[in-house]
Amino acid sequence: MNKIEHLENNTDIIVAAHRGLKSDYPENTLLAFQKALESEVDMLEFDLRLSKDGVVVVIHDDTLDRTTNGSGQVSDYTLAELKQLDAGAWFDPVFEGLKIPTLEELCTLLNAYPEVLLNVEVKPSRHAKEVADKAVAMLEDYGYLQRCVFTSFDAAIIAYLHDSYQLKTQGFPAELMTNFDSGPDGTYSKMWVVGISMKLLTPKIVKDFLDLGIKSWSYCPDVDQQVYYSLECGVALMTCNNPRPAMRIRHEIATAAQPLNKEMS
Ligand code: G3P
Ligand code: CA
Repeated sequence: MNKIEHLENNTDIIVAAHRGLKSDYPENTLLAFQKALESEVDMLEFDLRLSKDGVVVVIHDDTLDRTTNGSGQVSDYTLAELKQLDAGAWFDPVFEGLKIPTLEELCTLLNAYPEVLLNVEVKPSRHAKEVADKAVAMLEDYGYLQRCVFTSFDAAIIAYLHDSYQLKTQGFPAELMTNFDSGPDGTYSKMWVVGISMKLLTPKIVKDFLDLGIKSWSYCPDVDQQVYYSLECGVALMTCNNPRPAMRIRHEIATAAQPLNKEMS
C-alpha cells in the first residue's frame, strides 16, 4: 500500500528526506533525490517554483544565490537559462555540474520507485497557484497523486489544494503562514497535518493540534536525541535532513518488539 492515507493511523516512524538526502548532497538535485531513494526512505520532500517560461522547477529559495552560481529571482529566468547554472558546487566542488531539476525530471526518476510517498511543497510566490495547478496535473499524469501530501506556508494555497482538488495538505502553525484564515472553516480545517519545527515541538503543541483533529509532523529530527524527543511528543512522521538516525531507531524499535510479538502469536 503506498497511498498517503496509510499515514493516518500509523504509529511507526515514517521518514521523509528533506529536499533529498540534504545532509550529504546538494539539496533538491536529482542526485540528492536518487541517494535518498537508494537509502530507502519512505518519502521525498521537495520544493517547487516557476521558471520565467512557466516550467515547474525544483528549488527552495526564491533567488538563485544560495544554491547555484547564478543570482536573482528564479522566476526571472527561462528554463534554458536556469539549466546553464551549476547547482552542485556551492555544496562541494565535487558536485559541480549538477543542475536545477524540473518536476518532470523528478517524476521520471520516481518511475522506478512506485512505493515512495511524496511531500510536494509549493513555495509562496505570485506564481504559487500556477505551480500548484501544473504540479497537480503532472503528478496526476504520472499516476503519483495518490501518494502525495502537499505543503505550503501560504494558507491560500493550502485552501486551494484542499477545496479545488480535495488533496491532503500540510500547513504550519498560524503565525508561520501567510494568508492565514482563522475560524472554524478557516485554514486549520483544511490542514490534514501540521509541520512543527524542532524548535517549536512540545507535547502541548502536539495535543493542541490533535484537539483540532490535526496530526503533527516534525522537521527536522536529525540526531538520535531529536528523534526520541519527537516520539516522546507523540510524533512519528519526521522530515529529516539526515534520515539515518530516524531509520536506525525505527529498526531498533521493531527489532526490540519482535520477541514480544512472537510470544503473543
Ligand atoms: O516539511 C516542512 C519543511 O519542508 C519546511 O521547511 O524550509 O524546507 O521549506 P522548508
Ligand atoms: Ca520544503
